Amino acid sequence: PARLWPVLLPVLALAGCSGGSSNALDPAGPGARRIAGLWWLLFWISVVVFVIVLTLLGWAVLRRKRGGAVHGGDATGFVVVMGVVLPFLVLVGTYAAGLSDLGSLREPPAAAAGPAPVTVDVVGHQWWWEVRYPGTGAVTANEIHIPVGTPVQVRLSTDDVLHSFWVPELMPKTDLIAGRTNTTWIRADRPGDFRGLCAEYCGMQHANMEFVVVAQPAPEYDAWLVRTAAPAPAPANAAAQRGLQVFEQVGCASCHTIRGTAANGKVGPDLSAIGSRWSIGAGAAPNTPGSMGGWIANSQTLKPGNAMPPQPVPATDLPDVIAYLQSLK
Ligand code: CUA
Repeated sequence: PARLWPVLLPVLALAGCSGGSSNALDPAGPGARRIAGLWWLLFWISVVVFVIVLTLLGWAVLRRKRGGAVHGGDATGFVVVMGVVLPFLVLVGTYAAGLSDLGSLREPPAAAAGPAPVTVDVVGHQWWWEVRYPGTGAVTANEIHIPVGTPVQVRLSTDDVLHSFWVPELMPKTDLIAGRTNTTWIRADRPGDFRGLCAEYCGMQHANMEFVVVAQPAPEYDAWLVRTAAPAPAPANAAAQRGLQVFEQVGCASCHTIRGTAANGKVGPDLSAIGSRWSIGAGAAPNTPGSMGGWIANSQTLKPGNAMPPQPVPATDLPDVIAYLQSLK
């Protein structure tokens, strides 16, 4: 029936997403598990309250139908218990449960497999995520790789306005606040791609400020880190070589870094491994040669308001630039 669509549409929309899953009720880590536990607690309390209210309502309707008075005798005791004492107990109880979880969410989770905790620095920008692995030189954007079973300390700061870091299946929201560094912890208990998003309205493209957490077995993660910390691979053929030349000449290099080349701009995302990313523009478009070409020519059509101006890459050179960028993995 038509009335089901408001319920079904969001479900279908979520089912259609690429770049990882984001079901807060399918937790894959201790932080998200606590939040899901709270959700179910509130859900079942609501079910009980709902049933009690409907039962009383039905009882009152039936009694009235039979001609009896609804307020038979002194109802003061009943009103005090059902209207004051019971709500007080329920609200204080759920508040206490929330406070207890809030406290424990600040603690680092225990290491499941024993490896040392990992630290990742995440900087929020309008509208993308800069990701740095301190002490390694590895820099990515909108993509955070972590080893499975290892507590990961995420240090959050912002380059401009307020943002909020949220991975529904792994951890609760944590705000990014100008002038300070907030810390949160992630531990993924199973490998997978987990969708993350900005959960604080931060301007026109707030909706296109997504990222993915890639939880990998430790050896895979170690190999990824070594590969990502190394300079970008040299152009493998003449087209890619020409693409790099154009990239360095037309102005891309003044905003973007590709490690190992003359491009060392600091304004936009590091592109040293752009070819392996799950999306372009923090979820604005899939990472395909076609959308990459569209993005370079005029990213404002894909993500209006973003900081990148249209690039004067001649149409004849565009395929070489795309081939080069796609080869960076
Ligand atoms: Cu960043 Cu919303």
